Amino acid sequence: MSKGFVTGGDKIPKHIAIIMDGNGRWAKKHLMPRSLGHKYGMERMIGLMEHAFDLGVDYITVYALSTENLKRPKEELEGLFDLFRKYFKQYFGRVCEKGVRLRAIGDISLLPDDVQQVLREAEAETAQYQGKGINVAVCYGARDEIVHAVNRAIERGEKVTEESFSRLLYTAEVPDPDLIIRTGKEVRLSNFLLYQAAYAELYFSDKMFPEFSDKDLEGAIEEYSRRTRRFGKTDEQL
Ligand code: FPP
Repeated sequence: MSKGFVTGGDKIPKHIAIIMDGNGRWAKKHLMPRSLGHKYGMERMIGLMEHAFDLGVDYITVYALSTENLKRPKEELEGLFDLFRKYFKQYFGRVCEKGVRLRAIGDISLLPDDVQQVLREAEAETAQYQGKGINVAVCYGARDEIVHAVNRAIERGEKVTEESFSRLLYTAEVPDPDLIIRTGKEVRLSNFLLYQAAYAELYFSDKMFPEFSDKDLEGAIEEYSRRTRRFGKTDEQL
Protein backbone atom coordinates (compact mmCIF):
# COMPACT_ATOMS: atom_id res chain seq x y z
CA MET A 1 0.00 0.00 0.00
CA SER A 2 1.45 3.41 -0.90
CA LYS A 3 2.40 6.27 1.39
CA GLY A 4 -0.37 8.49 2.75
CA PHE A 5 -2.91 5.72 3.03
CA VAL A 6 -3.77 5.46 6.70
CA THR A 7 -5.27 2.12 7.71
CA GLY A 8 -8.18 2.63 10.09
CA GLY A 9 -7.99 6.43 9.76
CA ASP A 10 -10.93 8.70 9.04
CA LYS A 11 -10.11 8.52 5.33
CA ILE A 12 -11.23 4.91 5.24
CA PRO A 13 -14.82 4.74 3.97
CA LYS A 14 -17.14 3.35 6.65
CA HIS A 15 -19.44 1.82 4.08
CA ILE A 16 -18.42 0.54 0.63
CA ALA A 17 -21.04 -0.66 -1.84
CA ILE A 18 -19.93 -2.79 -4.78
CA ILE A 19 -21.52 -3.48 -8.16
CA MET A 20 -19.81 -6.73 -9.13
CA ASP A 21 -20.08 -6.46 -12.89
CA GLY A 22 -18.19 -8.44 -15.51
CA ASN A 23 -18.38 -12.05 -14.29
CA GLY A 24 -19.95 -13.17 -17.58
CA ARG A 25 -17.48 -11.33 -19.84
CA TRP A 26 -14.55 -12.58 -17.76
CA ALA A 27 -15.77 -16.17 -18.12
CA LYS A 28 -16.25 -15.74 -21.87
CA LYS A 29 -12.72 -14.38 -22.28
CA HIS A 30 -11.38 -17.44 -20.45
CA LEU A 31 -13.59 -19.82 -22.47
CA MET A 32 -15.60 -20.81 -19.40
CA PRO A 33 -19.35 -21.01 -18.86
CA ARG A 34 -20.92 -17.89 -17.30
CA SER A 35 -21.80 -19.92 -14.21
CA LEU A 36 -18.09 -20.37 -13.49
CA GLY A 37 -17.58 -16.63 -13.87
CA HIS A 38 -20.20 -16.11 -11.16
CA LYS A 39 -18.51 -18.69 -8.92
CA TYR A 40 -15.13 -16.95 -9.28
CA GLY A 41 -16.95 -13.65 -8.70
CA MET A 42 -18.47 -14.89 -5.46
CA GLU A 43 -15.09 -16.19 -4.25
CA ARG A 44 -13.41 -12.87 -5.13
CA MET A 45 -16.13 -10.99 -3.26
CA ILE A 46 -15.41 -12.94 -0.09
CA GLY A 47 -11.67 -12.16 -0.38
CA LEU A 48 -12.41 -8.47 -0.95
CA MET A 49 -14.75 -8.35 2.03
CA GLU A 50 -12.15 -9.89 4.33
CA HIS A 51 -9.56 -7.40 3.12
CA ALA A 52 -11.94 -4.43 3.44
CA PHE A 53 -12.84 -5.32 7.04
CA ASP A 54 -9.12 -5.71 7.83
CA LEU A 55 -8.56 -2.18 6.50
CA GLY A 56 -11.20 -0.80 8.85
CA VAL A 57 -14.32 -0.67 6.66
CA ASP A 58 -17.50 -1.28 8.73
CA TYR A 59 -20.17 -2.05 6.12
CA ILE A 60 -20.11 -3.64 2.69
CA THR A 61 -23.12 -3.83 0.42
CA VAL A 62 -22.92 -6.10 -2.59
CA TYR A 63 -25.26 -5.98 -5.58
CA ALA A 64 -25.69 -9.72 -6.11
CA LEU A 65 -28.94 -9.79 -8.10
CA SER A 66 -31.09 -6.94 -9.34
CA THR A 67 -34.81 -6.99 -10.01
CA GLU A 68 -33.84 -6.63 -13.70
CA ASN A 69 -31.42 -9.61 -13.50
CA LEU A 70 -34.47 -11.74 -12.70
CA LYS A 71 -35.30 -11.51 -16.42
CA ARG A 72 -32.11 -13.40 -17.35
CA PRO A 73 -32.42 -16.89 -18.88
CA LYS A 74 -33.80 -19.44 -16.43
CA GLU A 75 -30.64 -21.53 -16.75
CA GLU A 76 -28.36 -18.67 -15.60
CA LEU A 77 -30.67 -17.81 -12.70
CA GLU A 78 -30.75 -21.45 -11.59
CA GLY A 79 -26.93 -21.42 -11.67
CA LEU A 80 -26.89 -18.35 -9.41
CA PHE A 81 -29.41 -19.86 -7.01
CA ASP A 82 -27.25 -23.01 -6.89
CA LEU A 83 -24.27 -20.89 -5.85
CA PHE A 84 -26.32 -19.59 -2.92
CA ARG A 85 -27.41 -23.11 -2.03
CA LYS A 86 -23.94 -24.68 -2.23
CA TYR A 87 -21.54 -21.99 -1.06
CA PHE A 88 -23.31 -19.13 0.68
CA LYS A 89 -23.18 -20.57 4.20
CA GLN A 90 -19.59 -21.75 3.88
CA TYR A 91 -18.20 -18.57 2.29
CA PHE A 92 -20.17 -15.95 4.18
CA GLY A 93 -19.91 -17.94 7.42
CA ARG A 94 -16.14 -17.46 7.18
CA VAL A 95 -16.44 -13.66 7.12
CA CYS A 96 -19.39 -13.36 9.49
CA GLU A 97 -17.91 -15.48 12.27
CA LYS A 98 -15.58 -12.54 12.93
CA GLY A 99 -18.57 -10.57 14.26
CA VAL A 100 -20.20 -9.33 11.06
CA ARG A 101 -23.97 -9.06 10.77
CA LEU A 102 -25.48 -10.19 7.47
CA ARG A 103 -28.62 -8.63 6.06
CA ALA A 104 -30.39 -9.51 2.82
CA ILE A 105 -31.85 -6.42 1.18
CA GLY A 106 -34.40 -6.64 -1.62
CA ASP A 107 -37.62 -8.49 -2.31
CA ILE A 108 -36.42 -11.86 -1.05
CA SER A 109 -39.89 -13.37 -1.55
CA LEU A 110 -39.08 -13.58 -5.29
CA LEU A 111 -36.40 -16.22 -4.61
CA PRO A 112 -37.01 -19.99 -4.44
CA ASP A 113 -38.02 -21.00 -0.90
CA ASP A 114 -34.81 -22.86 -0.07
CA VAL A 115 -32.65 -19.90 -1.16
CA GLN A 116 -34.76 -17.56 0.99
CA GLN A 117 -34.13 -19.99 3.83
CA VAL A 118 -30.34 -19.84 3.35
CA LEU A 119 -30.44 -16.04 3.61
CA ARG A 120 -32.86 -15.96 6.56
CA GLU A 121 -30.68 -18.44 8.48
CA ALA A 122 -27.56 -16.33 7.87
CA GLU A 123 -29.46 -13.24 9.07
CA ALA A 124 -30.67 -15.00 12.22
CA GLU A 125 -27.25 -16.49 13.02
CA THR A 126 -25.53 -13.08 12.84
CA ALA A 127 -28.32 -10.89 14.27
CA GLN A 128 -26.47 -10.43 17.56
CA TYR A 129 -23.51 -8.67 15.93
CA GLN A 130 -23.31 -4.89 15.86
CA GLY A 131 -21.03 -2.38 14.22
CA LYS A 132 -19.91 -4.41 11.20
CA GLY A 133 -22.22 -5.60 8.47
CA ILE A 134 -22.62 -7.15 5.06
CA ASN A 135 -25.72 -6.33 3.05
CA VAL A 136 -26.43 -8.72 0.21
CA ALA A 137 -28.72 -7.02 -2.30
CA VAL A 138 -30.76 -9.77 -3.95
CA CYS A 139 -33.89 -9.20 -6.05
CA TYR A 140 -33.00 -5.60 -5.28
CA GLY A 141 -34.00 -2.52 -7.24
CA ALA A 142 -33.74 1.00 -5.85
CA ARG A 143 -36.98 2.14 -7.49
CA ASP A 144 -38.77 -0.88 -6.07
CA GLU A 145 -37.28 -0.09 -2.64
CA ILE A 146 -38.43 3.55 -2.82
CA VAL A 147 -41.94 2.60 -3.96
CA HIS A 148 -42.17 0.06 -1.11
CA ALA A 149 -41.09 2.73 1.38
CA VAL A 150 -43.62 5.27 0.05
CA ASN A 151 -46.41 2.71 0.33
CA ARG A 152 -45.42 1.85 3.90
CA ALA A 153 -45.55 5.54 4.83
CA ILE A 154 -48.99 5.89 3.19
CA GLU A 155 -50.28 2.77 5.02
CA ARG A 156 -49.13 4.27 8.31
CA GLY A 157 -50.66 7.63 7.41
CA GLU A 158 -47.27 9.22 8.02
CA LYS A 159 -45.74 12.33 6.52
CA VAL A 160 -42.04 11.56 6.11
CA THR A 161 -38.79 13.42 6.73
CA GLU A 162 -35.47 12.51 5.10
CA GLU A 163 -34.51 10.61 8.26
CA SER A 164 -37.80 8.79 8.76
CA PHE A 165 -37.88 7.88 5.05
CA SER A 166 -34.38 6.36 5.32
CA ARG A 167 -35.71 4.12 8.07
CA LEU A 168 -38.39 2.76 5.73
CA LEU A 169 -35.79 1.57 3.21
CA TYR A 170 -34.29 -1.94 3.17
CA THR A 171 -31.05 -0.39 4.50
CA ALA A 172 -32.83 1.10 7.54
CA GLU A 173 -30.13 0.51 10.15
CA VAL A 174 -27.10 0.98 7.92
CA PRO A 175 -25.31 4.30 7.24
CA ASP A 176 -25.34 5.57 3.65
CA PRO A 177 -22.49 4.31 1.45
CA ASP A 178 -19.41 6.54 1.36
CA LEU A 179 -17.91 4.86 -1.68
CA ILE A 180 -19.59 2.94 -4.49
CA ILE A 181 -17.31 0.82 -6.67
CA ARG A 182 -18.43 -0.59 -10.01
CA THR A 183 -16.24 -2.97 -11.96
CA GLY A 184 -16.72 -4.18 -15.54
CA LYS A 185 -16.16 -0.92 -17.49
CA GLU A 186 -19.75 0.34 -17.28
CA VAL A 187 -20.25 3.81 -15.82
CA ARG A 188 -23.73 3.81 -14.29
CA LEU A 189 -25.58 2.91 -11.09
CA SER A 190 -28.12 0.52 -12.64
CA ASN A 191 -30.89 1.07 -10.08
CA PHE A 192 -28.56 0.53 -7.08
CA LEU A 193 -29.01 2.48 -3.80
CA LEU A 194 -30.34 5.56 -5.61
CA TYR A 195 -31.63 7.26 -2.45
CA GLN A 196 -28.67 6.29 -0.26
CA ALA A 197 -26.07 7.27 -2.91
CA ALA A 198 -26.89 10.99 -2.75
CA TYR A 199 -23.39 11.91 -1.50
CA ALA A 200 -21.47 8.73 -2.20
CA GLU A 201 -18.15 8.97 -4.01
CA LEU A 202 -18.25 6.89 -7.19
CA TYR A 203 -15.35 4.78 -8.47
CA PHE A 204 -15.38 2.88 -11.74
CA SER A 205 -12.90 0.18 -12.70
CA ASP A 206 -12.32 -1.29 -16.16
CA LYS A 207 -11.46 -4.63 -14.58
CA MET A 208 -13.97 -7.48 -14.75
CA PHE A 209 -15.06 -8.37 -11.21
CA PRO A 210 -13.21 -11.72 -10.83
CA GLU A 211 -9.93 -9.92 -11.55
CA PHE A 212 -10.55 -6.95 -9.20
CA SER A 213 -7.78 -7.61 -6.66
CA ASP A 214 -7.21 -6.55 -3.06
CA LYS A 215 -4.65 -4.06 -4.47
CA ASP A 216 -7.36 -2.63 -6.76
CA LEU A 217 -9.60 -2.18 -3.72
CA GLU A 218 -6.77 -0.33 -1.98
CA GLY A 219 -6.42 1.84 -5.10
CA ALA A 220 -10.12 2.73 -4.94
CA ILE A 221 -9.88 3.58 -1.24
CA GLU A 222 -6.72 5.59 -1.87
CA GLU A 223 -8.52 7.65 -4.51
CA TYR A 224 -11.47 8.08 -2.14
CA SER A 225 -9.09 9.31 0.57
CA ARG A 226 -7.82 12.05 -1.76
CA ARG A 227 -11.27 13.43 -2.55
CA THR A 228 -12.80 16.32 -0.62
CA ARG A 229 -16.37 15.62 0.44
CA ARG A 230 -18.07 18.96 0.78
CA PHE A 231 -21.70 17.77 1.07
CA GLY A 232 -22.79 20.97 -0.66
CA LYS A 233 -20.67 23.29 1.55
CA THR A 234 -17.67 25.44 0.60
CA ASP A 235 -14.08 24.47 1.43
CA GLU A 236 -13.99 27.20 4.08
CA GLN A 237 -17.01 25.77 5.87
CA LEU A 238 -15.50 22.32 6.25
C1 FPP B 1 -22.67 -9.36 -12.83
O1 FPP B 1 -21.97 -10.01 -13.85
C2 FPP B 1 -22.99 -10.31 -11.76
C3 FPP B 1 -24.24 -10.82 -11.50
C4 FPP B 1 -25.43 -10.43 -12.26
C5 FPP B 1 -24.49 -11.83 -10.45
C6 FPP B 1 -23.52 -11.84 -9.32
C7 FPP B 1 -24.01 -12.77 -8.28
C8 FPP B 1 -23.33 -13.81 -7.80
C9 FPP B 1 -21.96 -14.14 -8.25
C10 FPP B 1 -23.98 -14.73 -6.81
C11 FPP B 1 -23.94 -14.34 -5.43
C12 FPP B 1 -22.79 -13.54 -4.98
C13 FPP B 1 -22.69 -12.95 -3.78
C14 FPP B 1 -21.47 -12.20 -3.46
C15 FPP B 1 -23.76 -13.05 -2.76
P1 FPP B 1 -22.60 -10.13 -15.30
O2 FPP B 1 -23.14 -11.50 -15.50
O3 FPP B 1 -23.60 -9.04 -15.53
O4 FPP B 1 -21.34 -9.92 -16.17
P2 FPP B 1 -21.33 -9.42 -17.69
O5 FPP B 1 -21.75 -7.98 -17.67
O6 FPP B 1 -19.88 -9.57 -18.04
O7 FPP B 1 -22.23 -10.30 -18.47
